[in-house]
Amino acid sequence: CGIVGHVTSAAASSRTLDVLMEGLGRLEYRGYDSAGVALVTPGAATVAAAKRAGKLTNLRQALVEHPMHDAVAGIGHTRWATHGAPNDTNAHPHLAAGGQLALIHNGIVENFAPLKAELVAAGVTFLSETDTEVAAHLVARAYATSGDLAEAMRMVSRRLHGTFTLLAVHADQPDVVVGARHDSPLVVGLGEGENFLGSDVAAFIAFTKEALELGQDQVVTITPDSVTVTDFDGNPAEGRRYTVDWDAAAAEKGGFASFMDKEIHDQPQAVGDTLLARTDERGQIVLDDLRIDESVLRSVDKIIVVACGTAAYAGHVAKYAIEHWCRIPVEVELAHEFRYRDPIIDAQTLVVAISQSGETMDTLMAVRHAREQGAKVIAIVNTHGSTIPRESDAVLYTHAGPEVAVASTKAFLSQITAAYILGLYLAQLRGNKYPDEVAEVFDELRLMPARIQEILDGAEHVREVARSMSEASSVLFLGRHVGFPVALEGALKLKELAYIHAEGFAAGELKHGPIALIDEGQPVIVIVPSPRGRDSLHSKVVSNIQEIRARGARTIVVAEAGDDDVLPYADEVFWVPQSPVLLAPLLTTVPLQIFACELATSKGLDVDQPRNLAKSVTVE
Ligand code: G6P
Repeated sequence: CGIVGHVTSAAASSRTLDVLMEGLGRLEYRGYDSAGVALVTPGAATVAAAKRAGKLTNLRQALVEHPMHDAVAGIGHTRWATHGAPNDTNAHPHLAAGGQLALIHNGIVENFAPLKAELVAAGVTFLSETDTEVAAHLVARAYATSGDLAEAMRMVSRRLHGTFTLLAVHADQPDVVVGARHDSPLVVGLGEGENFLGSDVAAFIAFTKEALELGQDQVVTITPDSVTVTDFDGNPAEGRRYTVDWDAAAAEKGGFASFMDKEIHDQPQAVGDTLLARTDERGQIVLDDLRIDESVLRSVDKIIVVACGTAAYAGHVAKYAIEHWCRIPVEVELAHEFRYRDPIIDAQTLVVAISQSGETMDTLMAVRHAREQGAKVIAIVNTHGSTIPRESDAVLYTHAGPEVAVASTKAFLSQITAAYILGLYLAQLRGNKYPDEVAEVFDELRLMPARIQEILDGAEHVREVARSMSEASSVLFLGRHVGFPVALEGALKLKELAYIHAEGFAAGELKHGPIALIDEGQPVIVIVPSPRGRDSLHSKVVSNIQEIRARGARTIVVAEAGDDDVLPYADEVFWVPQSPVLLAPLLTTVPLQIFACELATSKGLDVDQPRNLAKSVTVE
């Protein structure tokens, strides 16, 4: 879910509602099952609230009929449903104390059932099916005894189990917004005569770049000219102040039809920026922000990559590169499976957590588990000020800039890039590679942004083929070696964006089962490894194309420029520039992203906000 809060001293010309709506627009990628706002106007007996199921535009329409422009404080929420269907009633904010208090929530209150029973026994009537409404009534009752919203929030935070960010406003304290966080994101935006709260800085980037990072288990109170942070017991605490290094325009569409399209086109820059400032004048890799002792990194005997979704496929690519360069065994595990299978980890294990948002709860829990077992954790993360880097031993930031479209594109390529940097760094440190070998690969990496640009510039054929396939009901993707994770990612993009059944397979596995799926006209996209690569890998994949073509498949081949061997068996070819085998995913992924985006667009679907998804899943 996305959360925003605002408080201002400018009662006469208040922009609170505009701030909330702007913030919600920028946070909508965090969930779009419903949206709502609550506003406090000085002197009013109750808060004013509006909420609607569905995307933000429904709330916007509701507000046109009932504008609320004289408020001085407010909170806004965009929901990704957990407890209760995504309808108007379950939308946030939830009201309590006869409408005097409004509260919004991101996360899950795990002990909501006993708390609800306690409230029902005390005569409270519930309107919604949410766990959040329990928190609203509890805070209202705590306020009735303490007379102070921050204290009420602390009292309730101590009783809740699970994960939560809560924001609340009360009609009696019109110049105050109070927030609490426990394992869920919340940052403060610092203004002049006004202050902000948000799930991430996108919430207030249009108004201020000055931010304050909060720790876990803290309560923050913002007024127009103060920010007060305490722990759940009321002891004073301090946040870390920082300035956001991108501006509002970076999170806008910039002339593209969708954020997805823009972010696909941002990729040369995302990869280029991720490579910036990683080497010294001798060409050696220096990772300043990697705060783990070199002797510890030298003694690592196993690496486990933990991640979810697209980030996990970046981890698969990392495995091929790191094992090849460093001769350290690498496992890749979905973060939500990792913790529950009692993995073998010790002080010689290096865990690499990959996450665009830095907030994915499954990945965060895997990080915590790994550290509890004594492993060191390096986070590869795109979002500064997020939780996973703070809870890890070290961080290697990707510099993809804000990614707004829910399905990941530029973050994926920059995660792969960061994984290469990490692999080369470890190889250099552990003596697996000579300095000139490291410099050679790095020089190749520096050529990748221009090669990606070449694919973007010549993508019209990919788009034509995509449009011709809008009626497809199933598409298969085959790849081998690093092409295998690319096939998995290509299939995921198509599922996410176009709602078409798609599956990625290791091409060698085809004959062991999936080939039974091939029928007349079945589209199959095959990622062909470079003919200049290892041994017979290329010819084996070309044979696979022949096998499926012979059984009636429509073959769409992603191949390296000049690879004429594929021509006799390909119905369509998406060419990519030549590159070293291990680096090829930075190129072969791009036509598959464009393909999925164009196909979904031709079906009239919203590629930025696919149904049922959220960008940042902050529940387990
Ligand atoms: C969600 C998103 C995916 C993303 C995954 C991991 O499921 O819809 O696009 O790959 O989370 O997100 P992270 O922020 O940890 O990379």
